[in-house]
Amino acid sequence: MTEEDRGGSPADGRSAPLWHGRFGEAPAAELWAFTISLPFDKRLALDDLRGSRAHVRGLERAELLSAAETAAILDGLDQVEVEFTSGTFAFAPTDEDVHTAVERRVTELAGPAGAKLHTGRSRNDQVATDLRMYTKRELLDIAVRVTALQQVLFDRAREAGETYLPGYTHLQRAQPVLLAHHLLAHGWALARDVDRLLDARRRTDVSPLGAGALAGSSLPLDPAFTARELGFARVFDNSLDAVSDRDFVAESLFCLSLLGVHLSRIAEEVVIWASDEVAFLRLDDRYSTGSSMMPQKKNPDIAELTRAKAARLIGHLTGLLAMLKGLPLSYNRDLQEDKEPFFDAIDQVRLALSAMSGLLATVRFDRRRMQEAADSPYLAATDLAEWLVRRGTPFRDAHALVGSLVRDSLERNIDLTELVAAHPALGDEAAALCAPGVAVTRRTTRGAGGPVEVARQLQKFQQQLESQSGRLRET
Ligand code: ARG
Repeated sequence: MTEEDRGGSPADGRSAPLWHGRFGEAPAAELWAFTISLPFDKRLALDDLRGSRAHVRGLERAELLSAAETAAILDGLDQVEVEFTSGTFAFAPTDEDVHTAVERRVTELAGPAGAKLHTGRSRNDQVATDLRMYTKRELLDIAVRVTALQQVLFDRAREAGETYLPGYTHLQRAQPVLLAHHLLAHGWALARDVDRLLDARRRTDVSPLGAGALAGSSLPLDPAFTARELGFARVFDNSLDAVSDRDFVAESLFCLSLLGVHLSRIAEEVVIWASDEVAFLRLDDRYSTGSSMMPQKKNPDIAELTRAKAARLIGHLTGLLAMLKGLPLSYNRDLQEDKEPFFDAIDQVRLALSAMSGLLATVRFDRRRMQEAADSPYLAATDLAEWLVRRGTPFRDAHALVGSLVRDSLERNIDLTELVAAHPALGDEAAALCAPGVAVTRRTTRGAGGPVEVARQLQKFQQQLESQSGRLRET
């Protein structure tokens, strides 16, 4: 927001903030510039209007507003909504935050009744209410977008058929697995993210409205009524807790951070797989970038930025926790600092999800490169040891025997398959395990990376997507 949008500062002496009564002088320009939150909490305008409507109905119900006054304020709120959604809302220099901007404008529109809008309410319960409504909506939206990314992974996994590649530990080739298995591994991590987001949302679903500044009210207000009006599942139990609790922001930031970490791990693999050295995939032109100097370059910038966004999200989470840790009850202005990191986290995760979804939907996997890398006979070493185990050799001895053949093969530069075929304890039947494409088919236990189990897993993942979508629709 520019200085112009904000309309300067009340220090100009043109008008006074809403709390002017107690003060003899207008706030200093430096105080104003430092303390206002309007530039970022404008984002809560529609939630603030919703909260205000519920509050007004509660005031009418408590006979603190007449029907005519209620109608005048509700009309004013409708008009403010039109101004916000059409972008014509004019901010005043005294608008400290979105709450004061709305109240000031409603009062201009509704006449004397407007002066009753803030009865029994504080910005402390108001901002907590607005932010919880915002959080509920955004967490659900992020969960829907995560599900869309999981669908991309699922589609790519299904398309991948029986394509296999080396599975790695320590970034060293370990045992072959299907590409589908690898892609779904990320899909399951994202499933936990969706579960976590919805879980955090459930704990966010508590209305703080009616807690007032910190201690409730002497007026006959009914927090349960406004909670119902606003679609909250529950009402606060303790007014001090209601205005000072930002657990829901911390938890949301954790969910977003861990989601960011999962996206970052996918992104890191994209970077590695896109390298000329590995070349397991090629990025689509639309989802990669070039170099201003080197004409041959095709860079995985989306993946790299996704990695970096995770760092930023973690920073937001730790910053918020540090801000909260020293706060006495109840509201303290420090709490205003919850919004920028949180809003940024929501924005960045949303951007990363759509960029990574597009990238993964369009990437071309190089089946030949992957399979060639997995066809090295060394990747069948575990299968050779297990072949011996089935014939009665203790695993430790089998491991040592195959290990010594691997060493021999490397030192003497002889194909492992030949050594296996020639070994008296192994022979041709065991050597057949080293043939291309064989070892992957032998990963047959539950949840394993071979074709039979992956087919079952694909079904299970599809069910997961269906039940997840059902849960999202019902939320
Ligand atoms: N803008 C504040 C916030 O975001 C809400 C206002 C509460 N201010 C106050 N002085 N009690 O937390």
